[in-house]
Amino acid sequence: MGEYHAYYANASRVLGAKGLIAKINGRVAGSTIFYRIEGPLSLGVIYYVAVYPEFQGNSIGKVLVLSAEEVLGDVDVYLATIEKENVVSQRLFSSLGYILVDMNSLYLRDSSLTKALKMAACAYEDDVAALKSVKVDVNSTINMLKIKDMIRVIKKVWKKGCYKPWLRLLSSRDPYKSLE
Ligand SMILES: CC(C)(COP(=O)(O)OP(=O)(O)OC[C@H]1O[C@@H](n2cnc3c(N)ncnc32)[C@H](O)[C@@H]1OP(=O)(O)O)[C@@H](O)C(=O)NCCC(=O)NCCS
Repeated sequence: MGEYHAYYANASRVLGAKGLIAKINGRVAGSTIFYRIEGPLSLGVIYYVAVYPEFQGNSIGKVLVLSAEEVLGDVDVYLATIEKENVVSQRLFSSLGYILVDMNSLYLRDSSLTKALKMAACAYEDDVAALKSVKVDVNSTINMLKIKDMIRVIKKVWKKGCYKPWLRLLSSRDPYKSLE
């Protein structure tokens, strides 16, 4: 994980984010970070998953995502966001039953939904949303994401875990140390 992503991963602690590490023979092979957003809809955000190159292709990514889902517990929907170029990550999530939504096309049809998805996962650089509905179907999930109260909750989470850290990053001389 680069410094920039590490900074935001660290910042997500204010949202109660949790992490899991996968170890193979005592060596760290990969990790994941995730948090819950509670509103009219209960959202489990898989914020980050990464496997060291030498361990990739051995289902560790799958195990990490499934374990994150388990620890996240009883939610309505899981959400992850991915860059368009990151085909492996898109395959990882679709192999686990996630539906992939192209947020660039979605923006043209429904900009407020796209903003809600990006804000929930603090993911401005990502183009694809991966959604897995647990209790309701994807269409109901999408409709519930747009309820005013849900948008309000997501905005609050975004301010705390994304916007404020970004402001701190802009104003700090040594930004990556400011959260230590
Ligand atoms: C994305 C990442 C976490 C996947 O981890 P991994 O342990 O290699 O993935 P897995 O072995 O569990 O494979 C899961 C699925 O991904 C796909 N996949 C894995 N390696 C692949 C490769 N080299 N090429 C194409 N697809 C691949 C497969 O569809 C696989 O499912 P299948 O085994 O049922 O076919 C890993 O590549 C990584 O750390 N990438 C860099 C960080 C990153 O991009 N994180 C995601 C940000 S959202």
